[in-house]
Amino acid sequence: MMDRRAAQTIMDQSAGELLERKISECIASKDWRKVINIGQASSFEERVKYLWVWPLEKDLEKIHACFSRFDINRLLSIGCGTGLLEWLIHSATGIHISGVELDERWWRSKYATKTYIPLVFAETQCNVIQGQPLWDSIMFCYFNNGPAFCEYMDNFNGKYVIIVGPRDGQGIHTDPLPSRVNFPHGQYWERCCEMQIGSENLNCIVIYRRQ
Ligand SMILES: C[S@@+](CC[C@H](N)C(=O)[O-])C[C@H]1O[C@@H](n2cnc3c(N)ncnc32)[C@H](O)[C@@H]1O
Repeated sequence: MMDRRAAQTIMDQSAGELLERKISECIASKDWRKVINIGQASSFEERVKYLWVWPLEKDLEKIHACFSRFDINRLLSIGCGTGLLEWLIHSATGIHISGVELDERWWRSKYATKTYIPLVFAETQCNVIQGQPLWDSIMFCYFNNGPAFCEYMDNFNGKYVIIVGPRDGQGIHTDPLPSRVNFPHGQYWERCCEMQIGSENLNCIVIYRRQ
């Protein structure tokens, strides 16, 4: 007879496959509101496997208004993981987004989670920005590599940096943290927009503008 733990693992796996299938179906039909609803209907433990920060519909509306106000049209997202947040932002705002990840072999392997936007792979941090068309903004969501962040920033010429991650005092560490960013020496950025994101009262998005 199968023991309880093995049965639980199988149940978890099939719940995960079902969630992934549902997300893929909504993406195929370009229904971003439904993707958000699926995230909200799933447990926190399940949905963070796809995305650390699940925006709500009202968050994407605010992001859209903000991007329009600042004329943000081309966004490069570093360390985008599955790219689901980027797909949601693209679908809700219409702006062009590209994602950067490390380790092409892993992301193309059968073990990797499904990805939702085309990825560019970075073997060294700087080359991906240099070879690409002009980006007016760069985004880091739950990024955790301060030195790589600085190297990307040294090669970025655009006007806006968007940091998504935990709000202060949540006991979660990312590097950079949205409200405490160590920009490279000699770069000056002002905080121009800040909003909470998601239903957990845990995360925020902060936009910085080059001075
Ligand atoms: C905590 S995950 C966040 C994934 C996604 N942004 C999210 O919010 O769900 C951090 C991601 O950054 C990627 N990463 C780490 N260092 C990187 C680098 N130097 N360049 C590009 N991606 C990097 C990792 O592979 C990983 O997928």
